[in-house]
Parts: sequence; structure tokens; C-alpha cells
Amino acid sequence: MAHPRYQSGELHCGLRINPQHSTGSTPLYDPCVAGSRLGITADQLEGVDLSGLSGLHFHTLCEQNSDDLESTLDAVHQRFGHLLGSPQFTYLNMGGGHWITKPFYDRDRLVRLVRETRERYGVEVWLEPGEAVAIHTGVLRARVIDVFESAGHRLAILDVSGTAHMPDVLEMPYRPDVYLVEADNANPSGPAVVIEAESYHPAAESGEHLYRLGGPTCLAGDVIGDYAFPRPLAPGDLLVFDDMAHYTMVKTTTFNGVPHPDIVLQHEDGTLETIREFTYEDFRDRLS
Ligand SMILES: Cc1ncc(COP(=O)(O)O)c(C=O)c1O
Repeated sequence: MAHPRYQSGELHCGLRINPQHSTGSTPLYDPCVAGSRLGITADQLEGVDLSGLSGLHFHTLCEQNSDDLESTLDAVHQRFGHLLGSPQFTYLNMGGGHWITKPFYDRDRLVRLVRETRERYGVEVWLEPGEAVAIHTGVLRARVIDVFESAGHRLAILDVSGTAHMPDVLEMPYRPDVYLVEADNANPSGPAVVIEAESYHPAAESGEHLYRLGGPTCLAGDVIGDYAFPRPLAPGDLLVFDDMAHYTMVKTTTFNGVPHPDIVLQHEDGTLETIREFTYEDFRDRLS
């Protein structure tokens, strides 16, 4: 409160609350689990001096529709409504996790909920969706570097890794959509990204040409998943993982020295611009 920007009125302080209302399906992404370190529970606030605060914040959703926001708001009203209703609190931040760009998302309900909250408490309402803004805006291109069988399983080893490049595949766990790209096979050193939709063949969950896709690291569990393709895979085949632009890009590691993929921008006219190439020196310089 002694900060000059607070004193000048430029800075406002908010408190993250835990409405203790779990709506998601993945415990790893649930800030409402018992013993959570994300957000203060209503009972912890009893008798606490809240002077200096002007906002409340919750972030409890992950890839969810507005019905879950509605039930979360019911819990917020029940546990924290007395605070929001006091003149001290001027804003409520409803965090992220709102899947507002999905075709099935009920945006009318979101608008109603925002309006109702503003009118009920006289507060400003903030939303901070992240993933919804960047969803389906980028792919991760992978090459098959080897194909073999082990104990009745067919394996395809890729030049990308679950653990190093898409850790949510192991942590969440999350199953990315994979496409086999035919058009590029004749040109293994061809463009970094291929967008012609007709050349994409989505992999299925089961089928004749079933492969366990694995990364090149030493982690035994560096497995992206079992996918069935329209034909047998061979070294050199190009696979494209959909929806890799947001958390996947920021959560990568250089475990085992597996190289980072280049970051390439594809312009509307199809031209490619390499934004960043990662070299051995990048890997070395992080460590020394
Ligand atoms: C406090 C907070 N707000 C917003 C977000 C963005 O969430 P999402 O990308 O799921 O919309 C996050 C992500 O973890 C977060 O922790």
C-alpha cells in the first residue's frame, strides 16, 4: 500500500478467491481441490482486515462452457457475495478457461452472467481468456524417423517429443489431433508448415495401421499416444499435430538436448517466414 502507484490511485489490488466449486474434469487443472494453493477460501477470510483491496479474482475453469461459469458464480455469490456487495469492492475478475471461441460455447449465457453480476453488485467484470484466443492457430510438424515392432506393438519414433515439446500430453493427459500429410512426402526438406486441408488425413483412435507415437528422448514414457493411420507409416512421413500454438509453445524444454522446432509464421498468401530457429548454442547457453 506504500507503493507510489497505489498511492496515486493507478494501482488497484485484488485478492484471488477459491469458491471451492470444482467443475473441471482434470485434477491437475483444478484450483478448487482441497488443499489448493491457488485462492483464499471464505473461511480463511473471516475477521481478516481487507483494507487496501478493491477487487476479487477467481480462475477455476479450464476449457469450459458458460454453464460451469454459472454454477461457479453461484458458489461465489454464496461465499463471497457479502464482500462483492460492499462499496469497497469495485471489480470481479472471472479469470480464464472460458472456451468462448468454440462453436458450441453459449455466449448469450456469458453475456447474461456478466450483466447480472455487474447489476447485482455494481462491480466491473473482467475476463482473461488465454487459450480461446489462440486455439487452432498453430501446428507442430513432426517427421517419422523410425518404425519398428515391440511385443506386438507397432511403434513410430518421431523427431518431436511428448515430454519436451507437448508436456500436457503426459501431464493432463491430453490427446492432440494428428494428421498424416501426403503432399509433402516427396519433399522431406519442403516447407515447414503445410496447410492444404485436402492433404491432411486425420489419424483415428483404432484401425488397421495402428502406431504408438514416441519421442526421441530417454524417457520410457515419452509416448504421445496410439493412433491409427490410413496407411502404414514409413521413415520420412510428415505428421502434423494440431493446436500447438499456446501452452505447448511456452511449456517446451530442451530435455535430452532434443532440438526445439523452429517457429514459422505462414502468411495469408502462403509464404513462410521463419521467426526463430533454435540452435545448439541456445541449449548450451541456457545451462552455462
Ligand atoms: C489467473 C489466470 N487467468 C487466466 C488464465 C488463462 O486461462 P485459459 O488459457 O485457460 O483461458 C490462466 C491460466 O492458467 C490463469 O492462471
